Amino acid sequence: MKIKRFGVSIDEELLKKFDEIIKEENYPTRSKALNDLIREYIVKKEWLGGGEITGAIFLIYDHHKREIVDKVTDIQHDFHNIIISTLHIHLDIDNCFEIIAFRGLSKDINLLNKKLKNIKGIKSNFVSIISKKEEI
Ligand code: NI
Repeated sequence: MKIKRFGVSIDEELLKKFDEIIKEENYPTRSKALNDLIREYIVKKEWLGGGEITGAIFLIYDHHKREIVDKVTDIQHDFHNIIISTLHIHLDIDNCFEIIAFRGLSKDINLLNKKLKNIKGIKSNFVSIISKKEEI
């Protein structure tokens, strides 16, 4: 990785708040925090722009409604080419927690997530994107 230095003009108050936050987060330097922010921004743009992304979908659903488990499984089989791994956790007596790790084009991930979250009885749905490609 080649490092490039550049000057930035920024609102003083904004920088003060930023420095407070990165101190709380235990960032070693302002540069490291900025690197992470810029990376996150690029990943988000990729997510919206149709590039390849890696991440996970989190689901919580009612364990007692057996048709939900069947539907979640069927959809995952349909998208087996972009699902890397799945972890099923029996969260408590009533709830299942499922983590579906994916890698693929954002339009396919979008479709997968849409199908999962539209299943009747899904209590919670969250998508987290960890990276675009290996180079980030
Ligand atoms: Ni379960």
